[in-house]
Amino acid sequence: MTERRKFDYLVIGSGVAGLWYALGVAEYGSVAIITKKERAESNTNYAQGGIAAVMDEHDSFQSHIDDTLDAGAGLCDAEIVEIVVTEGPARIRELIALGASFTYHDGQLHLGREGGHSAHRIVHATDATGREVERALLASIRNHPNIEVFEYHYAVDLITEHHLGQHVSRLRPDIHCYGAYVYDEKADAVETFLAKVTMLASGGSGAVYLHTTNPSIATGDGVAMAYRAKARIANMEFVQFHPTSLYHPDGEAHTGEKTGKSFLISEAVRGHGALLFNQAGERFMPAYDDRAELAPRDIVARAIDDQLKQRGDDYVLLDISHKPAADIKEHFPTISETCLGYGIDITKQPIPVVPAAHYQCGGVQTDQQARTTVRGLFASGEVTCTGLHGANRLASNSLLEALVFSHRAVEPAVDYARQWDWKDAVPDWDASGTESPQEWVLISHNRDELRRVMWDYVGIVRSSLRLERAFRRTHLLFQEVEDYYSRTRISSGLCELRNMIAVAYLIIRSAQMRRESRGLHYMLDYPDKVEAERRPSLV
Ligand code: FAD
Ligand code: SIN
Repeated sequence: MTERRKFDYLVIGSGVAGLWYALGVAEYGSVAIITKKERAESNTNYAQGGIAAVMDEHDSFQSHIDDTLDAGAGLCDAEIVEIVVTEGPARIRELIALGASFTYHDGQLHLGREGGHSAHRIVHATDATGREVERALLASIRNHPNIEVFEYHYAVDLITEHHLGQHVSRLRPDIHCYGAYVYDEKADAVETFLAKVTMLASGGSGAVYLHTTNPSIATGDGVAMAYRAKARIANMEFVQFHPTSLYHPDGEAHTGEKTGKSFLISEAVRGHGALLFNQAGERFMPAYDDRAELAPRDIVARAIDDQLKQRGDDYVLLDISHKPAADIKEHFPTISETCLGYGIDITKQPIPVVPAAHYQCGGVQTDQQARTTVRGLFASGEVTCTGLHGANRLASNSLLEALVFSHRAVEPAVDYARQWDWKDAVPDWDASGTESPQEWVLISHNRDELRRVMWDYVGIVRSSLRLERAFRRTHLLFQEVEDYYSRTRISSGLCELRNMIAVAYLIIRSAQMRRESRGLHYMLDYPDKVEAERRPSLV
């Protein structure tokens, strides 16, 4: 018997975006948070550097706005930037009131510095800010009488008119979301979660690339589901590669898992004075940008990529060892301990680093109240394209964006829930005619192949030829997997692969549409910024 559940508010994801919103709407009705692994497993939990906000009297909103616009390379929505920057400090104070414990110095918040910021404005909890934010939020929801958390529950698809047998298209203005079909991994069954309002807070898609700082849950499920539900998706070509993840010689994860996850060496380390050298001992960043190691991420990542290609090296070196050992350990306890675990004493020697896929700047398009183009479907966090980041996200603006829009979503979501009832006519999941999964190798092989294709052809430096190649291979994978999906019973692995292929398709197609180089999107055959191309890419 299929479970059928009803909540006022359904939240997909238990990172900062989902939890912050859940706390807000729980004052008005029942809330289900579904999350595909254990509740803390999220990009949020791994965030290191911190949250950017104007908390110092010598800093100014205008300066944070200017830095964000500058990093965004002409594609930010100026109104959204202003909203996020000016509302940020209030959200930080609320987080502190909730119990988040940040780093203080002489009784004041200690503010770090990161690339692209012209002031010290990064609120942080040493170098494990995300862990502290996630801990504080999970502690707050733990005993909330209106919130129920469903771990190992995987959202398969958003429910819309399509599931009521109607024709839906991206041109239709009145598509509604009625909840989601959710695979309960332990019961091995697909349940129907009906909701008056659904919040998509499912994070990003770093796992689509072979090397990434993201945990393996980051498979872009939210963007893929929203795309299938005919929501508007924007700016997917802007994939941010973090310049400095720990290099591992076997090309696989330092975590020991076959996930490709690379340990991040926070930008705050450069903000604290670390310098980049090539293997000949030359400091190379000043030759690429006046801001040297503190230039925005796209510039530093491309400079490193250029050095690696020019010299045929596997990594460059990030050196903080000129600072006192006690100071390094105080500010970067997690990074210094993790590196020591791999035999690297960062107080004495440089760290071998390489770029890795880190952040999805595009996503499900939302308005100033976090509404998507599908009614009853809100979105917040890395899954979205709000207009804040434009062509490149400024460091530590991501947690901030999630806090601001999850807060803004509460009022309109409550209004919407007051006007709508559950859609009882929604049918249960139909698994008839499907067989038990038999070809796990097809899933794992295709997942590896996709991630390699994306890394090789749709990475830091692109070209029309590489994108065309990537498109052909991805299309083949799409055909194989769609065929398998149509005749096989649901599993999370299969759904993830299907979603990763959809996200890869959206990245490649958006990249092909943009005939210029801007921010994170660098094309060898279109090396310049073109004014006529200064528009979001919409699918
Ligand atoms: P997440 O925190 O990723 O949460 C997504 C949730 O959705 C997870 O619970 C996941 O399990 C769930 N989910 C996904 N798909 C499904 C599905 N199909 N069904 C059910 N559940 C699902 N940003 C900053 O601003 N400052 C930093 O210092 C910083 N450092 C970072 C360091 C690292 C190593 C990484 C990886 C990212 C960092 N970022 C940082 C980026 C930032 O952490 C993320 O963008 C942000 O945490 C995203 O929050 P979110 O709530 O949108 O998504
Ligand atoms: C970092 O600590 O370098 C990550 C910060 C971010 O992604 O904003």
